[in-house]
Amino acid sequence: MYILAPSVLAADFGKLGEAVQETEKGGARYIHLDVMDGAFVPSISFGMPVLSSLRGYTKQVFDVHMMVEDPGRYIEDIKKAGADLITVHQEACIHLDRVINQIKAAGCKAGVALNPATPISTLECVLDQVDLILIMTVNPGFGGQKFIPYTLEKVRALRGLLQERGLDTDIEVDGGVTPDNVRALMDAGANVFVAGSAVFKNDIGENVKRFMDIFKERES
Ligand code: DX5
Ligand code: ZN
Repeated sequence: MYILAPSVLAADFGKLGEAVQETEKGGARYIHLDVMDGAFVPSISFGMPVLSSLRGYTKQVFDVHMMVEDPGRYIEDIKKAGADLITVHQEACIHLDRVINQIKAAGCKAGVALNPATPISTLECVLDQVDLILIMTVNPGFGGQKFIPYTLEKVRALRGLLQERGLDTDIEVDGGVTPDNVRALMDAGANVFVAGSAVFKNDIGENVKRFMDIFKERES
C-alpha cells in the first residue's frame, strides 16, 4: 500500500485547515508535520499549538517529523497535540532505544529518520523496534530542495536489509519527491512519500491526483 504524506511546510499557513482538507479529499492518508527547533536544523517551523489546532480539521494520520535536538523531551506533548506517528532523528538521540520506547509508551507509532549522510547500519540494532524508517532525500531544514540521487541506493539497501530480517517496515522518503521521481523511489522499496512543494504549490487537488494515479497504476 502506497501512502502520500503531504508536508504542510509548503502550504499557505493562512489557510492551513482548508489546504490540508483538500489533500485528504484527494486521498492522501497521512499529513506530514515538520517540527523544527532552530538547533538541530537551522530553521524554526511550528510546534504543539499548530498541531492541536489542525487536529480538528482532518482525520488523516498525523505524521510528525521532529527535527529537534533531544526530542525525548517533547514526546508526550506531541502525542497530546494529536500525533499518531512520531519520527525522531537518529542523529538527535543519544539514547535512541529509550526514545523509541517513550514513543510507543505514549501510544504512537515510532519512526526513526536518517540524514542523507548517515548510514543505514546505524539502525541495525533497532530495526525490529520501529514502525517506520524515514530516509531523508535532502538535508533536512527546508522545503523546496533538490532530491539527492545517492539516497535512492540507501532506500534499496534498507529494503533489502528489512527483507533479510523478515520485516515489512514502512520506508518513508522526504525531500524533493515529485511525480517524476516517485516511481524510482517505489522501485527502490519506499512506500510512504512525503511531498511539500509538489503538493501545495499551484493546484492542490490536481497535484494529489497525480501521485494517486501513479500509486493506482502500481497497485492494479
Ligand atoms: C525538510 C522537511 C520536508 C519538506 C519537504 O526538512 O522534512 O518534509 O517539507 O518539502 P519538499 O517536498 O518541498 O522537498
Ligand atoms: Zn519532513
